[in-house]
Amino acid sequence: MAKFMENAQVISQREISEGIFDLVLKTENIADNAHAGQFVSVYTADGAHLLPRPISLCDVDKEAGTIRLVYRVVGFGTTEFSGLKEGEMVRILGPLGNGYDLSAKKALVMGGGIGIPPMLQLSKELSLSGMKQSDIQVVLGFRDVCFLDDEFEKYGNVYIATEDGSRGTPGNVLNAVAENELSADVIYACGPTPMLRAIKAYALENDIECYLSLEEKMACGIGACLGCVCQSTDVDEHSHVHNKRVCADGPVFNAKEIEL
Ligand code: FES
Repeated sequence: MAKFMENAQVISQREISEGIFDLVLKTENIADNAHAGQFVSVYTADGAHLLPRPISLCDVDKEAGTIRLVYRVVGFGTTEFSGLKEGEMVRILGPLGNGYDLSAKKALVMGGGIGIPPMLQLSKELSLSGMKQSDIQVVLGFRDVCFLDDEFEKYGNVYIATEDGSRGTPGNVLNAVAENELSADVIYACGPTPMLRAIKAYALENDIECYLSLEEKMACGIGACLGCVCQSTDVDEHSHVHNKRVCADGPVFNAKEIEL
């Protein structure tokens, strides 16, 4: 798949929730070639920190040539990105990763925490593929404060779970699935590992096809650090071990292929 190293221009940036930033970048080729579930590697300006940071695509506007990255500030790199101002340039490489298979007839789209942003582009692509709004069931899990939830409403029916019970179903995304008696032929999910582990078990029990994005495990995003290795059920034909690199082989996997 084609990928491009570009100097992208900042169109806008704002903080949409505490420590969570929404960055829109104008690209030359990346937006045109990107689809749901993929990510870009964003480079810091400081030469002492050479490894880029992988950030998933929250939205792609092919007409405008823009991509939107919604990310949480967690360290040096993302702190630097959060200071980017309109008109400034940032180096990015992408689109990277395999993205989602869009073959669902009735989908459960589940996102937890900072795993929520990539589900927005997925919901948009499912909608563009001709799925009815009622067949795109979006279940979002938050600790307390919600973000982006209203933007999903134009593509699907939205259900919310909060750990502190301040909105929607108290608990996690699977509690919301049970409370609303939701069913589907395909599950798509992105979020913290305990959430994905529970969703995998639920999908196996109910015999539902399930695709999980393990993007939270990524570090460099470009195959350089091996910090993203996950255990797979099959044996890699080159290294003969039960390993897959999330950045190179994923970040989206069929749940049956990976151990969590
Ligand atoms: Fe560094 Fe995959 S994230 S090798």
